[in-house]
Amino acid sequence: MKALMPRIEISLSQIRHNARMLCQLYGKKGISLMGVSKAVLGDPFIAEAMIQGGVKFIADSRIENIQKMKSAGIATRFVLLRTALSQAESVVSNADISLNTELETVKELSYYANAHNKIHQIIVMAELGDLREGILPCDFHEFIKQTLSLSHIKIIGIGCNLACYGGIKPDGLKMSELSKLADTIEREFQLKLEIISGGNSANYEWYESAQEVGRINNLRLGESILLGNETVNRKAIQGLKTNAFKLFAEVIESKEKPSLPFGEICQDAFGDVPIFLDRGIRRRVIIALGRQDILVSGLKSNDNLEILGSSSDHVVLDSNNDDLKVGSEVNFHLDYGGILAAMTSPFIKKQFVKV
Ligand SMILES: Cc1ncc(COP(=O)(O)O)c(C=O)c1O
Repeated sequence: MKALMPRIEISLSQIRHNARMLCQLYGKKGISLMGVSKAVLGDPFIAEAMIQGGVKFIADSRIENIQKMKSAGIATRFVLLRTALSQAESVVSNADISLNTELETVKELSYYANAHNKIHQIIVMAELGDLREGILPCDFHEFIKQTLSLSHIKIIGIGCNLACYGGIKPDGLKMSELSKLADTIEREFQLKLEIISGGNSANYEWYESAQEVGRINNLRLGESILLGNETVNRKAIQGLKTNAFKLFAEVIESKEKPSLPFGEICQDAFGDVPIFLDRGIRRRVIIALGRQDILVSGLKSNDNLEILGSSSDHVVLDSNNDDLKVGSEVNFHLDYGGILAAMTSPFIKKQFVKV
């Protein structure tokens, strides 16, 4: 039987291995892990591999992904990473815990939790400088005070998210700020916070260099589990597998052509005016994959091919004069953006492999 293309091959054993190694590593200093499943569209098999590796929660930004995992029988504590006011009822019905920063939204969650006869658990996110979601420390106490008056909400933790939007490093200073915030909130409101969630895959460097982790007892990891690297410098973490995902695509044209387009230059399909280097006649390869499927910048050829450009349905490569045949397959390593796009594309087949 012909192999399916394009396809993404996924090694569950490598993902399980990474989750296990990271749980062991972070567990040494009392840090539990949430496995973040959003980049893999809440794939139940991948979530299960993370759970087998030891993660205590599965966190996703989309309710639909959580629903998919629950329907597939994944049993764990589900955390919603991004909460929208308009989805409050669905959040309460589907997630055990949600991350929150807006009082309006938390009031709505309380309303629907009451209607469903539930207590909804929340983690309140602090803004520590990255400028994506978060409540500024100066407004944090008021938020907690108001939230504590809501009958069907339980604050089970606080957290922060760095190195995502603003590229701010989760260093010792940021982590001790979060620890101090946890201490003062607990003291002021006579609360016991179960979770102090210090961040994501960018927290590795801080963790490795920290003498002690303060109150931080949880991290939410996506990329480190899936790709085996940290995200401050995108360095591989020792002992982790970095090739759990591989993308395969079919060669649909292979010809020797000039490297410089000929004719009058105008805009390309995406409104850019491309610039090319004249390298003479080269063997060029086109694969049946395009921007509708993949973040092309997230691809790295495992076959020594150079990506020259792309349109919605085509990626054009320089084959380095390798005479690739039409119908043959080429494969790529994917970065996080590449995995996110490939797993989301309905055109890319998902195939689990035993490696
Ligand atoms: C709030 C939040 N926490 C954690 C993560 C996981 O980040 P990373 O994949 O870098 O570990 C993300 C992003 O996916 C996120 O949005």
